Amino acid sequence: MKKYLVIASVFFAAVQGAGCVKSADAQSSLLPQKAPPQHWSFEGPVGHFDLSAVQRGYAVFVKVCSACHSLKQVHFSDLSQMGLTPEQTIALAESWQIAAGHDEAGHFKFRKGLPDDFLPSPYSSPAAARAANGGAVPPDLSRIGLIHPGGADRIYAMLTSYGEPVGGEKAPRYANPYMIGHITAMPPPLHDNAVSFTDGHPATVQQQAHDVTTFLEWVSEPHRDSKRRLGVGVVLYLCFLIIIFVILKRRIWSHVRK
Ligand code: HEC
Repeated sequence: MKKYLVIASVFFAAVQGAGCVKSADAQSSLLPQKAPPQHWSFEGPVGHFDLSAVQRGYAVFVKVCSACHSLKQVHFSDLSQMGLTPEQTIALAESWQIAAGHDEAGHFKFRKGLPDDFLPSPYSSPAAARAANGGAVPPDLSRIGLIHPGGADRIYAMLTSYGEPVGGEKAPRYANPYMIGHITAMPPPLHDNAVSFTDGHPATVQQQAHDVTTFLEWVSEPHRDSKRRLGVGVVLYLCFLIIIFVILKRRIWSHVRK
């Protein structure tokens, strides 16, 4: 009986193995290409977010990405941490229109944003988003910096590496080697000088992509810098403790001969 079980399990393993090889081959052609590494201010144990890049990235998000993407988990007041005064935060919130029900005639009503509001979604429902984007729903970007496989390098590569449009007018798709399946429903969002930066930085596609990626990484985890500082502090403290313990141990055992 045991012998038959062993033969059966070897047979199933062989069948499964053959299947895996085949599907792995098919899958690898759909995997996004590995993105070339970029230099990011927030990388490494002593890295920190360049807040002027974060602010430029916010400008790109507002001007370009917010037409299709939401940041549903972000309050306007969270954005104050990119170096804004309370007055600037209130002005930033007021520059957004928030849906506020309907008037008597059934038309949508809007009011100015308040610091406690979440950033509004561009579409009223996923169905509306799908209808406007050829059947694809633009994902919420609140935590994209934490969950996107390939990290900041792939977001940057994806925004700067568009190929020819493919597919019909109803559901246009675009070639992009850094997307799963090497194709995407997102039209090339960035164009030179589509945004103007108040700090005088040239608004090339590369600069906009770098800044908006920095902004998305920051907004996904605005406290990353303070966590990192705490981590470095803890490591230094532990090193200090080790030195103290080694000295103490030597003192305590110094009278004992080897
Ligand atoms: C015209 C609408 C539109 C604009 C503008 C737009 N996107 Fe998208 N985006 C989409 C759609 C649609 C998808 C889903 C693509 C798909 O599923 O094929 C998407 C997907 C994404 C993804 C996920 C990609 C992945 O690997 O799954 C990221 C990240 C992203 N967009 C970032 C941005 C950024 C950053 C901007 C602004 C610079 C932006 N998008 C502007 C429509 C848009």
